[in-house]
Amino acid sequence: MKNEIISLEEITQFQSPTHEFNPYEWYKNKLENEPVSFNEATNTWNVYRYKDVKKVLSDYEHFSSVRTRTTISVGADNDEGKHMGKVNLMSDPPEHRKSRSLLSAAFTPRSLKLWEPRIHEIVNGLLSDIEEKQVIDVVKDFASALPTIVIADLLGVPSKDRELFQNWVYDLFLPIPKENAEKVNELKREAAKEYYNYLFPYIVQKRSNLADDIISDLIQAEVDGERLTDDEIVRMTMFILGAGIETTSHLLANTFYSFLYDNDQIYEEVRANRELLPNTVEEMLRFRFNIAKMDRTVKKDNDLLGVPLKKGDVVVAWMSAANMDEEVFSNPFTLDIHRSNNKQHLTFGNGPHFCLGAPLARMEANIGIGLFMDKFSRIEPVSDFKLEQNLTPAATGQTLISLPVRVYK
Ligand code: HEM
Repeated sequence: MKNEIISLEEITQFQSPTHEFNPYEWYKNKLENEPVSFNEATNTWNVYRYKDVKKVLSDYEHFSSVRTRTTISVGADNDEGKHMGKVNLMSDPPEHRKSRSLLSAAFTPRSLKLWEPRIHEIVNGLLSDIEEKQVIDVVKDFASALPTIVIADLLGVPSKDRELFQNWVYDLFLPIPKENAEKVNELKREAAKEYYNYLFPYIVQKRSNLADDIISDLIQAEVDGERLTDDEIVRMTMFILGAGIETTSHLLANTFYSFLYDNDQIYEEVRANRELLPNTVEEMLRFRFNIAKMDRTVKKDNDLLGVPLKKGDVVVAWMSAANMDEEVFSNPFTLDIHRSNNKQHLTFGNGPHFCLGAPLARMEANIGIGLFMDKFSRIEPVSDFKLEQNLTPAATGQTLISLPVRVYK
């Protein structure tokens, strides 16, 4: 992972964490005034409109996922933390096809069906730990715990090791601060090493003891006569952790934030009519997944975005801004759980790299929020909550570290 990391802060110049958490004015301005613009400080092109973002994400002939400069800064930079071997999702079709097919073996509709009752059980376990409380921290007690436990369970990690697992995940995906970068990098390297050393023998042993879990699926996956080695499987699982945990936690935490602070009628309305829940989750992905963006490298000179792009240029495609494009979404800056086309949001990407975990993320959110609603009839904010003091920078943008909620059974 020797890629040069492009600092998004230099593009956005948000005034505060709260501003970044509510970037709507910024998006509005970009969509109206600078839909395709060059940022000198980072030497990147930035695109905001729906049709341009979609094009950049999906047209792999012109916009490549092979990068030397990128905005993605998760993972560790030592040998254990690198993605190597024949599995390389940072590639374009046709090469990308094999990696994606190998990984898809773990994300079939059959797997999803098998996972559903397990996710129910995990959510019920988390809820029974908090059901007697009057005020819960919905981030710590629920939103960040759920996706980590789900993935640990789906990998087949024994429940006694979950805490160990949660600690590695925490360190591996810490954002790299401007100061103290080396200290954080060292923590990440250590976590990658420990994780690798924990999981490797486990995979070897799994080969003669297959079960219904992601590792067993990856062991059996075969494309064009090729199979994954133990080493590649460990690396693949690390990639899955990076792609699937923080993102899903962010979605859940922000959904509760929206229930409390964007529109306090939604919880009651959806609780009374559960058919609205899937569409509510989609609207949260559209409206409250604040900083979804993805970069690509220009593969050959072109002017597909109306500006002269040169081979090697980096283009950042702002999906969260595209989700606010009024060409596609009417009254885009209004949170509307009844919106009929909100599934068109680009938060899961578009084209050959479209999120492989989208069905799982959707299922976790629907089961998680649905069972939470079964347990608690009403939720309320606590009066002394200060948003600014409860945000932290992460790969998903400013993320809630804590969100106290008063709950009523
Ligand atoms: C709300 C939750 C999630 C969001 C918003 C999200 C978003 C995305 C996006 C935007 C991409 C496309 C990247 C690109 O175009 O380069 C992607 C790819 C991917 N996601 Fe997710 N993701 C989420 C949850 C998950 C989960 C739960 C998993 C698995 C456990 C997962 C696994 C993946 C994988 C493996 C890829 C790479 C696919 C490829 O390159 O072919 N994601 N995700």
